[in-house]
Amino acid sequence: MYETYLNNRFTNSLVFYIFLLLLLLVSPFLFVWELVNYARSCFRSKENLSGKVVLITGGSSGLGELMAYEYAKLGAYLVIIARQKPESRLEQVADRARELGSPDVLFMFADVSKVDDCRMFVNETVNHFGRLDHLVCNAGISPLNSINNDVTGFGPVIDINFWGSVYPTHFAIPHLMKTNGKIIVNASSAGVLNPPRYGFYSASKAALISFYESLRFEVSPMITITILTLGYIQTNMITAKYSRNGRLSAKSYFTQDMKDVVPTMAAEPCVKAIVDEIRKGATSITEPRFVKALFLIKYLFPQLHQFYLNMYFPSKNRKLKRDG
Ligand SMILES: NC(=O)c1ccc[n+]([C@@H]2O[C@H](COP(=O)([O-])OP(=O)(O)OC[C@H]3O[C@@H](n4cnc5c(N)ncnc54)[C@H](OP(=O)(O)O)[C@@H]3O)[C@@H](O)[C@H]2O)c1
Ligand SMILES: *[C@@H]1O[C@H](CO)[C@@H](O)[C@H](O)[C@H]1NC(C)=O
Ligand SMILES: *[C@@H]1O[C@H](CO)[C@@H](O)[C@H](O)[C@H]1NC(C)=O
Ligand SMILES: *[C@@H]1O[C@H](CO)[C@@H](O)[C@H](O)[C@H]1NC(C)=O
Repeated sequence: MYETYLNNRFTNSLVFYIFLLLLLLVSPFLFVWELVNYARSCFRSKENLSGKVVLITGGSSGLGELMAYEYAKLGAYLVIIARQKPESRLEQVADRARELGSPDVLFMFADVSKVDDCRMFVNETVNHFGRLDHLVCNAGISPLNSINNDVTGFGPVIDINFWGSVYPTHFAIPHLMKTNGKIIVNASSAGVLNPPRYGFYSASKAALISFYESLRFEVSPMITITILTLGYIQTNMITAKYSRNGRLSAKSYFTQDMKDVVPTMAAEPCVKAIVDEIRKGATSITEPRFVKALFLIKYLFPQLHQFYLNMYFPSKNRKLKRDG
C-alpha cells in the first residue's frame, strides 16, 4: 500500500506542498502563540542565584568573562576555567568577580579538550563548594577555513568546541541532578546558518545543538538545558586572535571592522539578557533576537538565505568566474 500509493515522486512532494499550505493557514495562530509566549516570559519568576555554585569554562575573556561578572553581581559562587598561559587574565577576572559580589571565586587552569582536565575541575568544584548548580560550557575557538587549507589542522575546533562541552557535561550531570541544576551550552547561530568559511566552526556548533537537544530528553525535568545560538557579539573572537600559520585571519578576510559590515550586538547587554533568560529557565536563547528571523528564512526560503550570505561574504571564485 505504502509502496504503490504513497512512495512515489508525486505523492512525496504533495505531502511537502500540503504541509507548506497548512503552515500558511496556521501562521496567524503561530504568530499569536509566539506573542503570548513572549509576554508570559516577561512575568516568569527568576532563579535566586545567591549562594548557588556556577562553573564557567573559558572565563578569561569575552562572553565567559562577562557572564562571570553577571553571576557575581547576583551573589553566586564561581569557578572559572581557562588554559594555562603566561599572559592569562584568569586571576584578574576572579579578583574582579569577588569585587562585584561573588562570595568566593575559584580559578583553575585546564584544557577543556582533555578529558582528565575536565574530570579534575568538576571534581575540585564539588570538593570545594559541596555542590554544583550551573555548568556554563562556553570555551570555544572560531578559526576561518577554506577547503584549500590543510584539513588536518582543524582537529582542535571539534576537540575544544564539541568535546570541550561534552566532557564537563558528562562529569557534571550526577551533581546537577542533585541540585536540579542547569547546563548552558554555547552553540552559535553559525550552527544553523552555516556562513561561508566557517565550515568547521559551524559543524562543531551544529554538533553541539544536535547533541544537547537529544540529551535534553535524558536529563529533564531534573536538569534544564539552555542552548545559546548567538549572532555576532562584539568580543575578541571576531578579530584575528586565533588565526595562525598563514590561515586566513578574520581581520584580513573581513577587510572592514565587523561592526561596519554586519549588525553586531554589544557584549554587555547581550550577557545581561542571557543570564536573565537562564534564570527564567529558557531552553534556547538567541541574541540579538532578529537572528531568529534568519533561521526561519534559512528553512523556508533557502535561496534568499544563499543570496544574502553571498552579498555579505563575496566569494573569490565567483569573481574569477565573472572576470575570466
Ligand atoms: N563573539 C561572537 O560573535 C559569538 C557568536 C556566537 C557564538 N559565540 C560563542 O561564544 C563562545 C566564546 O566566544 P568569545 O567571543 O567570548 O571568545 P573569546 O573572547 O576568545 O573567549 C574564548 C574563551 O575560551 C577559552 N578557551 C579557548 N580554548 C580553551 C580550551 N581548550 N580550554 C579552556 N578554555 C579555552 C579562552 O581562554 P584561554 O584562551 O585563556 O584558554 C577564552 O576565555 C564561543 O564558544 C563562541 O563559539 C561567539
Ligand atoms: C535568595 O536566597 C538567599 C539565600 O538562599 C536568601 O537569603 C535571600 O533572601 C534570597 N533572595 C530573594 C530575593 O529571595
Ligand atoms: C561562546 O563561544 C564563542 C567562541 O566559539 C565565544 O566567542 C563566546 O564568548 C562564548 N560565550 C557565549 C556566552 O556565547
Ligand atoms: C575526586 O575527589 C575525591 C575527594 O572527594 C577524591 O577522593 C577522588 O580521587 C577525586 N577523583 C578524581 C578523578 O580526581
